[in-house]
Amino acid sequence: MSKENRINFSSKMAVVAAAAGSAVGLGNIWRFPYELGQYGGAAFLVLYILFVILLGIPIMLSEFAIGRSGQSDAVGSFRKIDPRGKWWLIGVMGVISAFLIMGFYSVVSGWTFEYIYQALTNQFAGKDSASLAAGFTEFSSHPYRPLLWAVLFMAISAGIVLLGVKEGIEKSTKFLMPLLFIIIIALGIRSVTLPGGIEGLTFLFHPDFSKINSSVILSAMGQAFFSLSLGMGCMITYGSYVNKKNKLTHTVAEVTVLDTLVAVLAAVAIFPAAFSLGVNPGQGPELVFITLPSVFAQLPGGQFWAVLFFILLSVAAMTSIISLLEVVVAYVTEEFKLKREPVTVAVTLAVLVFSVMSSLSFGVWKDVTIFGLTFFDLFDNATSKVLMPLGGLLISLFAGWVMPVETLRREISNAGELKLKLFNVYLFLIRYIAPLGILLVMLNF
Ligand code: PHE
Repeated sequence: MSKENRINFSSKMAVVAAAAGSAVGLGNIWRFPYELGQYGGAAFLVLYILFVILLGIPIMLSEFAIGRSGQSDAVGSFRKIDPRGKWWLIGVMGVISAFLIMGFYSVVSGWTFEYIYQALTNQFAGKDSASLAAGFTEFSSHPYRPLLWAVLFMAISAGIVLLGVKEGIEKSTKFLMPLLFIIIIALGIRSVTLPGGIEGLTFLFHPDFSKINSSVILSAMGQAFFSLSLGMGCMITYGSYVNKKNKLTHTVAEVTVLDTLVAVLAAVAIFPAAFSLGVNPGQGPELVFITLPSVFAQLPGGQFWAVLFFILLSVAAMTSIISLLEVVVAYVTEEFKLKREPVTVAVTLAVLVFSVMSSLSFGVWKDVTIFGLTFFDLFDNATSKVLMPLGGLLISLFAGWVMPVETLRREISNAGELKLKLFNVYLFLIRYIAPLGILLVMLNF
């Protein structure tokens, strides 16, 4: 697609909405709290924030700059900037990551649909956390029920992707995200004021650094990549749709702050409640699906809040899946000159193969393992702990050492229009700190 007719996000707000829509999702509300619960609370949070600042911000800025400068998909953008090198392979790796992430993400997204249904039919009322936990296990291990929801979820997401960047992605994020924000704050207030809730806040904000070891460090880094949608070409693809006037540094700052806030607020909503209600914080993937329904069960008008919360959670998941689908669809349509419609359908069907494998990991295939991991855990770990950090490492090398500094500066300063006070700090982070930091963490695990 030539520069002139490439689709653009229509406004600054739309850029932030789309990128934040990608970043904010199950990673913040489902994955972050349960990882934090498993890896010792506040110490994990401190590490996480450190990784967001030192790696997340410079890498996101680089991805946007690569995409906007290359004006192409995740693979093509590298090739445009450096036609002779092999750096485009980073994009190919990103496409593979997108498939694997969608494989397990679609399953958890499907769970959110089931929980909308359960909330609508008032199934949380009067249940304690033990019976909610039993209910979760029964549902997630069912051979096909979770899959039907995952298929429905993917079908709707594919439909939105088919409508194209403007119609689909922009509109679905702009209004619903602020609403999600508000409801999480409300839940947080309820959770903190439950009897014994304070203990949960201590767990969350009072770091015990003796709990840090190499696997905690790797998980915190992986979570930073996962939550900010980095290291796999997503922000490169979206960056290519950003118009030349957008201030990339501002967009990055806004998206990062929003994403981190939602994650921390989700943790504030979950941990005090978990401590108060006797849910084990190290529970695992079912944490949010057990804890919050227990809170709803105790809230006046709980059913209403439950329905609203799970609808908003599924919307947040959908805007993330859409950005994942877009990575693959943009790549295939642009590199192989194919039409958007058949490509979207084919990609969605291919993803569902991975969804089946992930979903069965909780039931009939729970003993089928590779490297000791079920398919679900394998897709999750392979992406957040290996492929995305590796992608981030290579992207930082590309931006710091391969892309001419002048091109980078021009892209980030909008051809010299903006003053860049911290450009040298950014350059230092992307050239030295990011690649070395990622390498050290990855080699240590
Ligand atoms: N960042 C999303 C979340 O936190 C997940 C995601 C990862 C989306 C990678 C796109 C790319 O839920």
